[in-house]
Amino acid sequence: MTTHTPHEVPVPEDRFIISKTDPRGIITYVNRTFMEVADYPHVMVIGQPHNIIRHPDMPKAAFYHLWHTIKRGEEWFGYVKNRTRTGNYYWVFAHVTTDYQDGKPIGYYSVRRTMPDALKPTIETLYAEMRQIESRYGDKADMEAALKHLMAAIHQAGYASYRDFILQSYLQHAPACEEAFA
Ligand SMILES: Cc1cc2nc3c(=O)[nH]c(=O)nc-3n(C[C@H](O)[C@H](O)[C@H](O)COP(=O)(O)O)c2cc1C
Repeated sequence: MTTHTPHEVPVPEDRFIISKTDPRGIITYVNRTFMEVADYPHVMVIGQPHNIIRHPDMPKAAFYHLWHTIKRGEEWFGYVKNRTRTGNYYWVFAHVTTDYQDGKPIGYYSVRRTMPDALKPTIETLYAEMRQIESRYGDKADMEAALKHLMAAIHQAGYASYRDFILQSYLQHAPACEEAFA
């Protein structure tokens, strides 16, 4: 394996990175943009757990929060740093929801867009603080403490909830083509 300094892979503003999973998070579908940005051919991701692209800079609590939210049938939004096959990384604004077929839940569905650069330093700092808290004993209580830290920072910044923080911060900095969502 070659060693190199990881670099950020840009996510084009007009593209969506899409994947679908079964109820346990095993990948069942990825679109072309997923394969291009994450640098994975189709055969290497289908049937794999979604943590195949997990980046070590992501706090565990972010995914704990994700699963807790989607298992209740609610949608989850978040900023996620992912790892490409060759060890580079890309940041996304992610939306994860239940995937339905004939009215029945069959798994989960995620659509990701480019994450505004202006938000990256704040999120990087917050996630690093969360990882620091999580590393104390590495147990569930630490993860909940990390989540508490995130929520406290969000409230301190004047947002009423996690959801408000993610959606409002995104829309404030989103590319012009996203104005229709506001
Ligand atoms: C539809 C869907 C999309 C997901 N997308 C990502 C993703 O882009 N990156 C990621 O690291 N985890 C993603 N996850 C979460 C992973 O399943 C997993 O919880 C996470 O990578 C943490 O890995 P771990 O649970 O083994 O610690 C997704 C889960 C679902 C259900």
